[in-house]
Amino acid sequence: MENIRIGIVGLGRLGKVHAFNISQNIPGACLVAACSLDKRELEYARNQLHVEETYSQYEEMIENSNLDAVCIVSPSGFHAEQIQLAMKKGLHVFSEKPMGLNIKEIENTIKIIDQCPNQVFQLGFMRRYDDSYKYAKKLVDNGEIGELTVIRCYGIDPSSGLESFVKFAKASNSGGLFSDMSIHDIDLVRWFSGKEVNRVWAMGKNAAYPELDQVNELETGVALMQLEDKTMAILVAGRNAIHGYHVETELIGTKGMLRIAQVPEKNLVTIFNEHGMVRPTSQNFPERFREAFICELKEFVECIQKNRQSEVTAYDGLQATKVAIACQRSVDTNQIIDIK
Ligand code: NAI
Repeated sequence: MENIRIGIVGLGRLGKVHAFNISQNIPGACLVAACSLDKRELEYARNQLHVEETYSQYEEMIENSNLDAVCIVSPSGFHAEQIQLAMKKGLHVFSEKPMGLNIKEIENTIKIIDQCPNQVFQLGFMRRYDDSYKYAKKLVDNGEIGELTVIRCYGIDPSSGLESFVKFAKASNSGGLFSDMSIHDIDLVRWFSGKEVNRVWAMGKNAAYPELDQVNELETGVALMQLEDKTMAILVAGRNAIHGYHVETELIGTKGMLRIAQVPEKNLVTIFNEHGMVRPTSQNFPERFREAFICELKEFVECIQKNRQSEVTAYDGLQATKVAIACQRSVDTNQIIDIK
């Protein structure tokens, strides 16, 4: 079988990770085109990844390059339109989360995806491809912890990434803390429970970084959720983890509990020094989810090769965004929000 020819749009913080993986780590795929607004990033793609064709216009890339698929890693506000254009061109699409920034544009995008059943669409909820999350999911599905009662999730970006986040948020709308960060945890809540979220109550506080006020972003947010079967979820999202990249999940069931990355450990090393016993922590998303980013794209390529659809669907993207938007509305209005 010929290699799947992929073009990527976006070569920023995450785009570079996906571009590198497609060109080096995904059997059966090759990165043949790249699109970015930044000339230095395009030089990187040409010189380091040996990408044949580079573009500053997405439309030109999908029109002129002979592609089988696109990988969309542009800012969130562009995803829906870029997915639609690629689908209409007959391409398979991998898109980063979130699917879009409003419900209408996502629903319109899903209509177009549904008209192309022979093209693969996959959304970038990479945590589902992380070994620990996969293991936990199997335990939950096998009934090891009984019926779920509470899910607690932490998703906190490192303070060291704040400067680059402020740049990102200034350049383009991130969708806010819940659509940008909590969306992964919302997906986990839906994935582990198999249930939809019915109502949310969320709040937020900015304390350490006034620069976040200027870009209308929250530093820390908390959301309390009730699922359709009365299971409860508590989400903490933030941008100010001094110690590193803190992603932690707890599942409480009638027969036991599971914790995933209770401490966001970097590896198995413990250092004994003048500070006592030190466990280094993971510092950023490319480090913590290195393998998961590779596995999700392997799955995307395998879906294309085997002519099947991915487990992570556009509908998952829609439902997660509905919850994220409800959380933001709850913060803005100080009300409990019911999700229809
Ligand atoms: P970034 O700001 O670092 O990079 C954005 C890239 O898109 C740059 O290469 C820029 O030149 C390009 N770009 C901007 N507007 C464009 C346009 N109109 N046409 C073509 N290219 C354009 O952003 P970052 O952090 O890499 O995020 C990109 C997307 O990935 C976001 O949607 C974000 O939510 C998602 N993301 C997902 C993560 C995950 O854990 N799965 C982690 C980080 C980001």
